[in-house]
Amino acid sequence: MSSTSLPPGYTLKCGHPPVDVYLNLRRATSLSPKTPAQAAAAHQGSWYAVYVRHEPTETIVGMGRVIGDGGWYFHIADMAVLPDHQRNGLGDAILRALLKEIEDKAPPGPYVNLVADEAGKKLYAKYGFVETTPRSVAMEKRYDGPRS
Ligand SMILES: CC(C)(COP(=O)(O)OP(=O)(O)OC[C@H]1O[C@@H](n2cnc3c(N)ncnc32)[C@H](O)[C@@H]1OP(=O)(O)O)[C@@H](O)C(=O)NCCC(=O)NCCS
Repeated sequence: MSSTSLPPGYTLKCGHPPVDVYLNLRRATSLSPKTPAQAAAAHQGSWYAVYVRHEPTETIVGMGRVIGDGGWYFHIADMAVLPDHQRNGLGDAILRALLKEIEDKAPPGPYVNLVADEAGKKLYAKYGFVETTPRSVAMEKRYDGPRS
């Protein structure tokens, strides 16, 4: 994607942030905390990932990734932008980059899903995501485990 689609001072990179930065981005955006072991394995298991750097402060301020089989099933996860950098279009640029990779690399007809928190709903709707209810509902199972 071109750098012109980001506000001045920000660059979008392919890949994951370092594990400590990833953990902090989740924590700072009130996503559930994860351990370094969970983060390292998550990064191994991604299909594609991007992050955004704020160049003046040399800080990674946003991220997002796709978990997928490369064939047809893709799940968007870890969408997060640090509070001080939100509402500048960074989440939009991250989502656009993830969807572009799917559109460019996946065989025709991919299925893309995500679990939307309230903060992201409008952004996702802008890119064509619709709620699955009442046709289907998301279900989840949570296990207790260590939290960082
Ligand atoms: C969801 C999230 C990633 C969005 O990131 P973001 O960088 O703020 O997203 P954007 O700036 O691209 O768009 C968000 C809003 O800012 C608005 N916006 C974009 N550029 C703007 C600007 N220059 N000035 C004012 N508002 C702007 C967008 O229109 C959008 O507003 P809207 O929802 O009223 O339409 C971020 O809010 C976040 O990290 N939330 C906490 C973690 C979380 O909930 N993750 C999602 C799990 S599903």
